[in-house]
Amino acid sequence: MEDAPIYMATVSAPTNIAVIKYWGKASSEYNTPINSSISVTLDPTDLRAVTTVAVSRRFTKDRLWLNGGEEDCNNKRFRACIDGCKALASDLVVEGKVVISKEEWADLFIHVSSYNTFPTAAGLASSAAGYAALVAALSELMKCKETFKGELTTIARQGSGSACRSLYGGLVAWRMGSAKDSWKDSKAEQLVDDWPGLKALILVVSDAKKETSSTTGMSTSVATSKLLAHRAEVVVPERMKAMEEAIKTKDFAAFGRITMQDSNQFHATCLDTYPPIFYLDDVSRQIIRMVNIYNEYHNEIRACYTFDAGPNGVLYVLEAHLVELTALALHCFPPPNGKVNQYLNNADLAKKAMAYSVDTTLSNKCPQGQMGDVNKFYATQVGPGPQTLDVKADGTLDPVTGLNTYQPNRTT
Ligand code: DP6
Repeated sequence: MEDAPIYMATVSAPTNIAVIKYWGKASSEYNTPINSSISVTLDPTDLRAVTTVAVSRRFTKDRLWLNGGEEDCNNKRFRACIDGCKALASDLVVEGKVVISKEEWADLFIHVSSYNTFPTAAGLASSAAGYAALVAALSELMKCKETFKGELTTIARQGSGSACRSLYGGLVAWRMGSAKDSWKDSKAEQLVDDWPGLKALILVVSDAKKETSSTTGMSTSVATSKLLAHRAEVVVPERMKAMEEAIKTKDFAAFGRITMQDSNQFHATCLDTYPPIFYLDDVSRQIIRMVNIYNEYHNEIRACYTFDAGPNGVLYVLEAHLVELTALALHCFPPPNGKVNQYLNNADLAKKAMAYSVDTTLSNKCPQGQMGDVNKFYATQVGPGPQTLDVKADGTLDPVTGLNTYQPNRTT
């Protein structure tokens, strides 16, 4: 057994940022939500999780490395993904020969090494990308075959709810499903594969780990917030329809309005939770004010904001207004060391935004933050779902030992 071959797969998965938020579980056993949600999958060029999985008859237990450090893999979420994928596995065929039969997968152990290219647990949906990458990598290795469309998303959902939406690119809905038939219909579905010209500007206010995890926060909210119950029963079903229509017709003004209202209501349910949960901070509120002043100045919704379980702001804007919005955001939230190029990930946009002169009637109305209030800007756009990478070039498990090779200080 010691020299048994190792088979591997490496996959990258994107993050996603919800425009109709998932907050509250209907079943913690199946990890299903009390309302449906919609998100935008972001381009994985800057923000992605990369996961390598390996199988071998020589492995004696499952092992997991996250960002270079070994973690305990005997947790329910990880197990649900491994066992869920094993149940859909096919024969593994190498050079025309079955090297692992469909029936054998159940008894074999898996090694997993995963890393993020963005801050973990800072409210930038790193668990979404992470669990989506895990399921996509296992599916690639095990040649999983879905028995119904979206079945893999029901597995990723059990890792982290929002992860089910990261298995597709474009704009994605997660249908809440129903308790009948073990919540099999609580799954993600792609609404459109792209919205050309839709850009996202992420303002990283803090990359510290959040104080209240989403899982804990939503369980307290479900137990104590009547506003959350009303939201799930009445508000979200209406908003889902209106948002799907806005996406279908590429109506940015409607998309932007609903996105902001839904972010506001999610944070209102956090405040309505007892004891209350605070994810937004003073800088987040300045970002909200800036966007509202910008829209008022133009007398139309040109940009919108949304905030997850953390203070970081995600702004959506159409390409035509990206330079102006970035210039305004740089004015309101200047880089800590004055160096825009180190602050904003896109050099071309940085150049254009610095050359753009924002009308002083607009900039004077906007809040003026301190240098360093925002410590990073990421400009990005709608992106594709998971992608299979080259194990040799991008894998982070040693092909000879099956052990982790990822070093946390690696930049790519
Ligand atoms: C605020 O998917 O992280 O980002 O299912 O417990 O892992 P678990 O929760 P998670 O919650 C995400 C909450 C949110 C809103 C959203 O992405 O829809």
